[in-house]
Amino acid sequence: MLNDNTTASDPFKKFLIWYSEAQTGKEGKGPKSYLISSCFRLLRRVLSVIFPWSSLFRPDIATLATVTPDSKPSARSVLFKGLVGGGFSFYTDYGSDKGKELDLNPSAVMLFYWSLPPRQVRIDGKVQKLSREAAKLYWESRTRVNQAASAAVRQSSIISGREELIEKTGHIELIYKGKPIPCPDSWGGYSLVPEMVEFWEGKLDWLHDREKYILNNGCWTKIKLAP
Ligand SMILES: Cc1cc2nc3c(=O)[nH]c(=O)nc-3n(C[C@H](O)[C@H](O)[C@H](O)COP(=O)(O)O)c2cc1C
Repeated sequence: MLNDNTTASDPFKKFLIWYSEAQTGKEGKGPKSYLISSCFRLLRRVLSVIFPWSSLFRPDIATLATVTPDSKPSARSVLFKGLVGGGFSFYTDYGSDKGKELDLNPSAVMLFYWSLPPRQVRIDGKVQKLSREAAKLYWESRTRVNQAASAAVRQSSIISGREELIEKTGHIELIYKGKPIPCPDSWGGYSLVPEMVEFWEGKLDWLHDREKYILNNGCWTKIKLAP
C-alpha cells in the first residue's frame, strides 16, 4: 500500500489503488486480516454473480455530470472504461443528450462512490473524443444484443414505447444476420481529462479524510479539506 507522500504528485496512481480496492476490498496487515479479507473477497464474488448490477459489485459505475445549453446541470450513470489518453474513459452515443451537451461545453464531472470501504472520487475536467479505432475495438467487445440495441435507435431520442425498441432491434438483427453489426458513426468514447481530482474517505469516528489534487501549469498540487 502506498503512503500519502508516494501518491502526492499523482492522483491517477491513487485512483487506481482505490479502484482496485473497490473491487477486491482493502487488504489488512497480518495473517488474521488476510484470512478475513480473503473470505470477504470470496463472499463478494458469490454475491456479485447473484446481484450483477448491484453498485456494491460494480465499481465501474460512475455518475457523469454535464452542463446543458441553458447552464443547468445534467447527470446520469455511465460505465468507466479505464484510464485512456490521460483521462477517465467512457463510451456513449455522441448524438445523445450528453453528447450534444459535451459538444457545446466539454466541461464535465465524473463521480464514483464505493461503499466498501466508503470512498468517493470526484473528477472535474474537460472531455476529449477517443479515436474511431478505439470505438470500433470497444464495440467489438460488446454483446450482439447490446450492439443491436445501440444501432437500432439514437440514444435519448423519443420512442413510442418498448415495442418500438424491440421491433427496431429485431430489424437490425435481421439485416445483419450472420454478419457483424457495424459500429454506428455516432457511437464512440470520451476521455475526461482531469483538472481537479478529489478523494474522500469515510472514517468510523466521522473525522473523514478529504484531499484535493489541482492541476497547475502541468503539475499536481495536493491540499487537504475539511470533510
Ligand atoms: C448502471 C448504468 C450504467 C450505464 N452506462 C452507460 C454507459 O456506459 N454509456 C451510456 O451511454 N449510457 C449508460 N447508461 C445509461 C445512462 O445513464 C443514460 O440513461 C443514457 O446514457 C442517456 O443519457 P443522456 O440522455 O443524458 O445522454 C447507464 C445506466 C446505468 C443505470
